[in-house]
Amino acid sequence: DASDIEKGTYPHYMLKEIDEQPLVMRKIIQAYQDKQGNLEVAADITAAVREADRIYIVACGTSYHAGLVGKQFIETMAKVPVEVHVASEFVYNMPLLSEKPLFIFISQSGETADSRAVLVKIKEMGYKALTITNVPGSTLSREADYTLLLHAGPEIAVASTKAYTAQIAVLAILANVTAQSKAIKLNFDLIQELGIVANAMEVLCDSKEEFEKIASQYLPFTRNCFFIGRSLDYFVCLEGALKLKEISYIQAEGFAGGELKHGTIALIEEGTPVIALATQENVNWSIRGNVKEVAARGANPCIISMNGLDTDEDRFVLPEVHELLTPLISVVPLQLIAYYASIHRGCDVDKPRNLAKSVTVE
Ligand code: G6P
Repeated sequence: DASDIEKGTYPHYMLKEIDEQPLVMRKIIQAYQDKQGNLEVAADITAAVREADRIYIVACGTSYHAGLVGKQFIETMAKVPVEVHVASEFVYNMPLLSEKPLFIFISQSGETADSRAVLVKIKEMGYKALTITNVPGSTLSREADYTLLLHAGPEIAVASTKAYTAQIAVLAILANVTAQSKAIKLNFDLIQELGIVANAMEVLCDSKEEFEKIASQYLPFTRNCFFIGRSLDYFVCLEGALKLKEISYIQAEGFAGGELKHGTIALIEEGTPVIALATQENVNWSIRGNVKEVAARGANPCIISMNGLDTDEDRFVLPEVHELLTPLISVVPLQLIAYYASIHRGCDVDKPRNLAKSVTVE
């Protein structure tokens, strides 16, 4: 409805959309629940995922980053192998396809031309496609065999925020319901865990001053900024870097902690901001080792960790959520840090230069 696309008291759509994330989580939990209160996805969709021998996720930009997280969900919960591809490359560098592939297109707008080109091609080859989109009736939704909706409400700011977390939540639900349909036992209740995520997001949205301080402390004059993480945190680092580039024009890159020593560490200078995520227990010490390495070379590290894994050196401690779902909350500080960096630098938050909300040319 009309109120969804009003900014209301917010100075920018992006800030409004960041704040809407807890509500979007709750809407998604509702939308994917049956009358008995169990998670539900249309049976033909779970069957398509279950019966595929390999899934190919195809997407661009932020949606591609959500796909990287989705791969981990589908592989760990539903035990189906997944590849994630950038749509624009897929057309030229088509991977050798498996015998029974299923394609999943992730697209906020459902109109991205690069993704559509792949969809047209794989449909010509006779394969099935599922589109995960925020826009019912969009091109990618109409042309695919199946659709799952994000229920995020209109996203107006060019930099995607609530659609990213909605995509991750819907992918978690798809993986979870497919696992159940394969009688794979999971030792957690996803509805409950997503509820915990929604509450944690609210805490983060109430901590805006903290992230504004981080932005003004680390980013006002810097030329560049690095985001480092391992495992799931690495994927969120890619998204955090993209957000910062898009709206503040700071040269930002996300790196896997272990790859630093193979090249990137050469870029570290006195005062280079390095934002590190530490939400995964199995890599907590190794990522902290990477922080020490960059700090020893003059970097200005900012560690964002999860409660239970935190140490005294951390700049911000996230409320604890299920280990698989951490991308849903660790991205929120990165969205807010990018937002405030953009404001401090006087950039146009909602309409950054050279970018479009949806790119309908290849
Ligand atoms: C554009 C937007 C990005 C978005 C990408 C993919 O580049 O600026 O924010 O992630 O397109 O869009 P889609 O609608 O397919 O998710």
